[in-house]
Amino acid sequence: MKASYALRRLLSNNYSLQCQTKRTFYRSFLRQTVPLTSVRYPNLKRGGYSALTDKDLSVFEKLIPGRVLTGSSELDGYNTDWLKTCRGSSQVVLRPKTTEEVSAILKYCNERKLAVVPQGGNTGLVGGSVPVFDEIVVSTQLMNQIISLDEISGTLVCEAGCILGNLSDHVAESNLIMPLDLGAKGSCHIGGNLATNAGGLRLLRYGSLHGSVLGLEAVLASGEVVDCLSTLRKDNTGYDVKQLFIGSEGTLGLITKASILCPQKPNAVNVAFLGCDSFERVLDIFKESKMKLGEILSAFEFLDADAIAVARDNLKLSIPIDDSFPFYVLIESSGSDGTHDEEKMNGFLEDMMNRGYVIDGTVASEPAKIQYIWSVRERIAEGLMHDGYCYKYDVSIPLSHYYGLVEAVRERTQGNTTRVIGYGHVGDSNLHLNATSPEYSQTTMDLLEPFLYDWVAKHRGSISAEHGLGFKKRDFIYHSKSESAVRTMNQMKQVLDPNGILNPYKLLPTVVR
Ligand code: FAD
Ligand code: MLT
Ligand code: ZN
Repeated sequence: MKASYALRRLLSNNYSLQCQTKRTFYRSFLRQTVPLTSVRYPNLKRGGYSALTDKDLSVFEKLIPGRVLTGSSELDGYNTDWLKTCRGSSQVVLRPKTTEEVSAILKYCNERKLAVVPQGGNTGLVGGSVPVFDEIVVSTQLMNQIISLDEISGTLVCEAGCILGNLSDHVAESNLIMPLDLGAKGSCHIGGNLATNAGGLRLLRYGSLHGSVLGLEAVLASGEVVDCLSTLRKDNTGYDVKQLFIGSEGTLGLITKASILCPQKPNAVNVAFLGCDSFERVLDIFKESKMKLGEILSAFEFLDADAIAVARDNLKLSIPIDDSFPFYVLIESSGSDGTHDEEKMNGFLEDMMNRGYVIDGTVASEPAKIQYIWSVRERIAEGLMHDGYCYKYDVSIPLSHYYGLVEAVRERTQGNTTRVIGYGHVGDSNLHLNATSPEYSQTTMDLLEPFLYDWVAKHRGSISAEHGLGFKKRDFIYHSKSESAVRTMNQMKQVLDPNGILNPYKLLPTVVR
């Protein structure tokens, strides 16, 4: 295809913009039975926690009248993770509305040694958000108030149960955006985002939540409320305690409020979707995009041909360009001057095509078309679920070895998977490697683990780039962290949650060396 033609080709208007909502999708998948985690992992032992009694239920009912859920069908969704890979058997879900209620609940649970799982939108991908045995679920669903928005500084203060997408809509009215965006934005809570230190599609531009969170409030296992809800950009008064809770996956405290720095909404956004013939070319394009787009580069994502097949075949999405390339790149630019940005983007793409780095491509500047192109990338996680069981990996690997892992895993699991795909935030060196099979297979699992984690460690990567460790990855922590670092984490846990009631069996390994 000639460069000039490909560059001028805009997306046709006939793409279906109807996305299946997360809610419908989730409900239909829940009908299938997910084995209990305690059955799938028979060697796992329940900790020495108390068992829930009728007296406990009546105490909870007094603390939060009418917000204690106990019916087993009502509890299904809270017990089962989004991937349908983990299922607990909690008998109760508590839905507090205020920090004081969370404090009273945790104080009581701590005194009674009742284990607790904090839960937000339950979109976590490592089995961290659901009980392993019968832990009590404390959901932030009803803690969904926006407290304030300072339009001048861009500081948003809100409760932990606010849904990310709702926060995005709210701040957009003041010409601001949330510093993070992810495919689960319609369900995930900001508290869950903080607890997992979620990365997502905007990290390349706005950095991690460790930078954009200005303050937070959290409740410790003892019920003590830790007030770090600063709204200041600069505050070097002692240890930065809030950072402890970011990425702690509900094991150190339950986050109840946060203040977040929201960037200005860019006036001009352009998205290019490009096809290229090798992974080396993907890296060439990344390097050039940093040079040529400079400050307006806001996202750099990639999908391989097998990921594109998931969007096309499982989700029935039209692929914006020819669907036969081995690799695809999605580049977003965001800036303040449309004409300037478009010129920059077009100049960059023309150069890439003339040099043969890009074979075909399309550019969009209209919101609906941009959203459609993004949906092809964002909905891969959803599309994979149509295959049956999804073995999900989220790793950081130096770019020089990045795609080698997909090739190695494909070779190793040949004949034992439906597909092995690679996609992700290549701009952050973050690869999402996913394998699928019609149902869970221990043989496939044994081929994947620990092979995949060994490979990542050998290439000096991280076994969890953005999803965390949760239940499924905690015992591989030593592949990415030193023994001394894990011991320090364990000491922090002892100080903040001496009875270990907060999210047991998660993040920290079974054995601390
Ligand atoms: P949950 O799933 O409910 O909980 C996640 C963890 O946080 C659990 O350990 C839980 O105990 C803890 N937790 C939840 N709320 C609190 C709280 N208030 N206080 C303390 N602990 C708490 N992740 C990324 O990083 N980048 C992505 O691009 C991305 N895309 C996704 C796309 C899809 C389609 C899906 C399904 C998931 C995606 N994720 C991504 C993973 C997930 O959405 C994120 O980890 C998200 O931040 C979790 O938020 P949540 O409210 O659903 O938390
Ligand atoms: C993504 O980037 O799409 C998410 O992290 C979800 C996934 O890994 O599938
Ligand atoms: Zn991701």
